[in-house]
Amino acid sequence: MKFLKKAAKSLDSLDHLVQDLLTLNQMESGVIKFSFSEFDLLELVTEVIEELEHKAGKREVQITVDADRTKGYPTIADRQKIYRVCQNLIFNAVKYNHDGGEVKVNLKLSKNQIQVEVKDTGPGIPPEDLKRIFERFYRVEKSRSKGKGGTGLGLAIVKHILEGHKSKISVTSVVGKGSIFSFELPLEKKKSDPIEAV
Ligand SMILES: Nc1ncnc2c1ncn2[C@@H]1O[C@H](COP(=O)(O)OP(=O)(O)O)[C@@H](O)[C@H]1O
Ligand SMILES: [Mg+2]
Repeated sequence: MKFLKKAAKSLDSLDHLVQDLLTLNQMESGVIKFSFSEFDLLELVTEVIEELEHKAGKREVQITVDADRTKGYPTIADRQKIYRVCQNLIFNAVKYNHDGGEVKVNLKLSKNQIQVEVKDTGPGIPPEDLKRIFERFYRVEKSRSKGKGGTGLGLAIVKHILEGHKSKISVTSVVGKGSIFSFELPLEKKKSDPIEAV
């Protein structure tokens, strides 16, 4: 039983790797087209967190959202792909956190933009690795990360998807304290209702 479980886990990792490689390849060769629609970013972030809560709960990592719930966060983007971006970033924030750590997702509205910030209380990323983590297959401290599973492709995919939205991913990190990943999407302004002509 133990052996079978290990084999199944390896197969899952392999499947994940193949899926990520396919996605990246298809995006780079232009096979995958972006499909833009209007949706609410706070709703999307909430969905992603619901999906990850079980995994986070096992290690007592708490995920919280900081957003003004009286406001909407409408944007126009490829919903599925932005879901993937948030999933990758929030999952990393949980995975590389210490047990009992915290993940905060901040949504900030400015005049024309919505900023999404994913903040963790993990080990942080050394400056010399920071500029390389978006490269495919790059993983910090390979031996340690190995036990965490993963392909080293998540952030390469995130970068690519955001480029397709004319946006970019930023990161700041302090070793021993944690990391902040952030990106922006356009705020879709609701056009005020036209005054009805009599
Ligand atoms: N929130 C984070 N805190 C610390 N290290 C991180 C974080 N996110 C990513 N990393 C580092 O960047 C590497 C690349 O991340 P990613 O492309 O998502 O690949 P994967 O998660 O499959 O290893 C990870 O292996 C890890 O070393
Ligand atoms: Mg990852």
